Amino acid sequence: MSGATARREELKELLMAARQCTRCAELAATRTSVVFGAGNADSELMFVGEAPGANEDLQGLPFVGAAGKLLEQLLGEIGLSRAEVFIANVLKCRPPGNRDPQSGEIENCRPYLVRQVELIEPRVICTLGNFATKLLRGDPAGITRVHGVPEVRTIGEHTARIYPLFHPAAALYTPSTLETLREDFARLPAVLALAQPPPAPPTEPTPEELAPAPPTPEAAGRSKAEAQQLELF
Ligand code: URA
Repeated sequence: MSGATARREELKELLMAARQCTRCAELAATRTSVVFGAGNADSELMFVGEAPGANEDLQGLPFVGAAGKLLEQLLGEIGLSRAEVFIANVLKCRPPGNRDPQSGEIENCRPYLVRQVELIEPRVICTLGNFATKLLRGDPAGITRVHGVPEVRTIGEHTARIYPLFHPAAALYTPSTLETLREDFARLPAVLALAQPPPAPPTEPTPEELAPAPPTPEAAGRSKAEAQQLELF
């Protein structure tokens, strides 16, 4: 099995595990679907949003509402389609009433996102909004301060450039935010053209890395929505 095939298989196993996840009791009880992420799992470019909303929860796919349409439009303006990139979220389940993700939920879900990054191996990760930016930069600085500036970060075992962007939902009704987001997007091809950041030197495992891995999937019962998501990889 080639490296790419093995990575893809592991990503499918991770999806199966996420679909069984009950780490956040409230989210597991209220979700319609686990929105694992979708797109090209071999892409050099990954987007990480905040959490699924009502439309995403119903369809089992990320960024399918108004913010997703804007994301698609901005991608189109730089000659990319959503099928060419991989799109995921900090949380894989919808917070009820679209409330903010809680810190415990972000911690519970983090191993899934870290493993997605390790398996997809993107060159550039665009973090959309505050939650993804703070998590993947490992720093509490807000998006207004850090947007549009690429920085090398190591996520799990993969080193990539983090490129923070305003969340498209924030740009929907604020023309000045949309203008800034569009300007940052216009520089994305140049960020993608930067040299691949060198892998981080090996370190001792941190206590977080020694935490239990996501649960393994149960063999039985793949749903239709799940099969649909798998086909998107
Ligand atoms: N907003 C997000 O952050 N993620 C989605 O998937 C949709 C809207």
